[in-house]
Formats: sequence, C-alpha cells, structure tokens
Amino acid sequence: MNKDLISYYKLRALEYEKIYSKPERQDDLKSLGQILQKMFAGKKVLEIACGTGFWTEQIAHTADSIVAKDINTEVLEIAEQKLYAKNNVSFECEDLYKPNTEYTYEALFAGFIWSHIKLEDLPEFIAVLNTSVLPGSTIVLVDNNFVKGSNLPITETDDRGNTYQSRELSDGSKHQVLKNFPSQDFLQSTFADYGSEFNLINLTYYWLLTYKTPLYKVSTFQSF
Ligand SMILES: C[S@@+](CC[C@H](N)C(=O)[O-])C[C@H]1O[C@@H](n2cnc3c(N)ncnc32)[C@H](O)[C@@H]1O
Repeated sequence: MNKDLISYYKLRALEYEKIYSKPERQDDLKSLGQILQKMFAGKKVLEIACGTGFWTEQIAHTADSIVAKDINTEVLEIAEQKLYAKNNVSFECEDLYKPNTEYTYEALFAGFIWSHIKLEDLPEFIAVLNTSVLPGSTIVLVDNNFVKGSNLPITETDDRGNTYQSRELSDGSKHQVLKNFPSQDFLQSTFADYGSEFNLINLTYYWLLTYKTPLYKVSTFQSF
C-alpha cells in the first residue's frame, strides 16, 4: 500500500479530473468557479499545487496573470495543454515547501492541498503561503467538506488526528492517502494568528477560506 502523496498524484494525473464529474457536486463547482473568477480578477496570482490546471483555466479568464506550480511534471503537462485565451499563464515544477519566489504576487490560490497537509505541518505550510506573496495579499484555499456517500470513508486516523482514505487507481494500485476534513472552528483558530480579514464560505461539498497576509514580512513560523 503506497502512502506517498506525491507519487500517488503522479500516477493519478491522467484520471485526476474524473473527480470533477461527480453529478451531485456540479452546482457547487459552478459556484466555486464564479467566486474564484471574481476574487482573482485583475490580480497577479501564484497558484500552488495546481495539478492538471482545472482551476487555473477558470481563474485565467479574469486574472491579470497566473504562475501555476506543482511538484509533478505529469500533471503540469496536462495543465499546459489547456487553452488560456489571454496567454497569461506560465507553469513551473516546484515543491511548495521550497519556493523560489520573487514576492511579486498579489494573491495566492491553493486548491485541494490543505487536506493533504499533516496537522502538525500546518504552521510551516501557512508560513510558506504568507511568505510567497506581497504583504497584505489575499490567500484563497479551497477544499472538501466530508459528505457521506460522496467522499470515500476514512479508514485510518493517526495519533496526531490526521485521517486517511484507502484509494485505488485504474491500474489497480492501492494508496493510503492523507485527507483531513477540518471543522469551521478548527480553520478559524488555525489561521487566526497568521493574517486578518478571515472569511469562510461553506458550500455543501466544499469550503473556501480567504484571508489577508500580514502587512509585514513573516520570516519564521509559530508552532501551535
Ligand atoms: C488534490 S491535487 C489538487 C490539484 C489542483 N489544485 C486542483 O484543485 O485540481 C493535489 C496536488 O498537489 C500536488 N502536490 C503534492 N505535494 C506537493 C508539494 N510538496 N509541492 C507542490 N505540489 C504538490 C500534487 O502533485 C497534486 O497535483
């Protein structure tokens, strides 16, 4: 059973976007697309863990520009094949924990990566978000709510409270995938120390969190 997240997404690249075909999620997905297009309108956007570019393509319609990054070349190759009518998107292969950034971004989008961050690694993750953009930038995270029957069940919980799902790819390979589902209170208390103007939009299948990064540069991260 594979427990490595990065190789899981490498193997899943070609079948990744099937997740966006679930009939019951279509209304929420449409709403998310509209919200994201509005939030990023006219902005210079950094997207981390962009995957196959499902959201990149939608945000590119209204953003000034997007630099979209992921650690797996297999997903980036798919993202690069999409049509970006404004020619305002570029892609880079990069580990989100080792950013090579020039701090010129006014906004950051992270779709469906929060759930794959171990709870004990959240301070480091949030420090990466905050230091990858200009002070006072907008950070937007989107991820799943747990909805029984639509999400795979949790099959394991570790001693830190991280939860895991057992997943199978079409090649028959089996994977134990870290997937955390936060409560609203947990999100609020987690981000409270790291920014301002915290806002949470809760749809049925997804949550969308926004906040503004501090007006000064944060060089270290706090443990909690
Ligand atoms: C659930 S997918 C989300 C893809 C895309 N954001 C979306 O919403 O459709 C998670 C993505 O995170 C990427 N990823 C995992 N660990 C990463 C890391 N350390 N640095 C950058 N990308 C990473 C995977 O390759 C995968 O494409």
